[in-house]
Amino acid sequence: MNGLRDVFAGKPAGRPPIWLMRQAGRYLAEYREVRKQAPDFLSFCYTPELAIEVTLQPIRRFGFDASIIFSDILVIPDALGQKVRFVEGEGPRLDRIETPDGLSTLASRIDLDKLAPVYEALRGVRRALPTQTSLIGFCGAPWTLATYMIAGQGTPDQAPARMFAYRHEAAFSGLIDTLADSCIQHLNAQIEAGAEIVQVFDSWAGPLPLAEFRKWGIEPVRRIVAGVKARHPHIPVIGFPRAITGSVATYVAETGVDAISLDTAARLAEARASLQPSIVTQGNLDPLALMAGGEALDRAIDDILAVTAGTPHVFNLGHGILPLTPVEHVERMLERIRR
Ligand code: CP3
Repeated sequence: MNGLRDVFAGKPAGRPPIWLMRQAGRYLAEYREVRKQAPDFLSFCYTPELAIEVTLQPIRRFGFDASIIFSDILVIPDALGQKVRFVEGEGPRLDRIETPDGLSTLASRIDLDKLAPVYEALRGVRRALPTQTSLIGFCGAPWTLATYMIAGQGTPDQAPARMFAYRHEAAFSGLIDTLADSCIQHLNAQIEAGAEIVQVFDSWAGPLPLAEFRKWGIEPVRRIVAGVKARHPHIPVIGFPRAITGSVATYVAETGVDAISLDTAARLAEARASLQPSIVTQGNLDPLALMAGGEALDRAIDDILAVTAGTPHVFNLGHGILPLTPVEHVERMLERIRR
């Protein structure tokens, strides 16, 4: 057995379990087909029948060891009353928050009723999944959520949120607190609906100087881990502080996460050597290597397998799978890992 649960339980694995970030997505023809049935991306996320179907598609096709619920990190701002929409081919657009006054339009507590379809989808997926397949729930980390809420979209370095945090520290700190509480509630509700592992995506951790990262990246995630563990002590939490330049061992020690998802540029061998043996690593195949395929892909896979042999590791990408990735490359990767 090579399930994710076994790796977290400290059982030795012959080969690493595998799943891919964004494994339900546009690289699958069957996903694009279902996507057409929803008027917009958020309605898609909030229609359990559709969310269940696309969550299961990559499991049926590839037999991954874990399934991640189809949803988005931006459902939290949506459930706090901020307007969120997705523009085809461009990405998310939110009503920008430019001043501390702008924060007053947000609710002080997350409306979990709005997210009921996510929990219903989790229950449906759990019923349909093979028993050995783990179900992963997730949320965006407060810092990454705040960057989208303030800029209203993704920007090259998320400067608007960084500037807001410097200029209006107290107000920003209040926003981060609200988001951390929202994350705890959303993750606990996902666990109660069937998620067995949760991942916290801090995609925009990279541009922060250390002191800012401590305040907005580490401390809120520490609170989230504590808030999940208080209710669900045995549920593993995976942290994904993408592109951090500092030590991942510090991040793990200070947040209390059980596993660290490493981005493409992270030095896997160094990270592994710096971590306690029980800490699980995840990652970090270059999504471009998967898209390229061929021998370049084989070499990239072998490097990861060599460095992580005998350690608790979950095979994954360093970031989400790219929409133009041929499914044959995913098959080739699985064959190589499973042989
Ligand atoms: O991994 C999975 O299969 C589960 C579903 C999932 C989605 N988004 C679905 C999605 C997860 C875990 C996310 C996380 C997410 N969403 C992050 C963190 C991870 C990362 O990629 O850094 C972020 C920053 C977002 C916000 C977001 N959602 C952006 C910036 C975009 C547009 C970019 C893009 O790829 O189009 C989205 C849209 C989105 N979320 C898509 C999917 C499958 C593509 C939209 C579509 O199908 O029309």
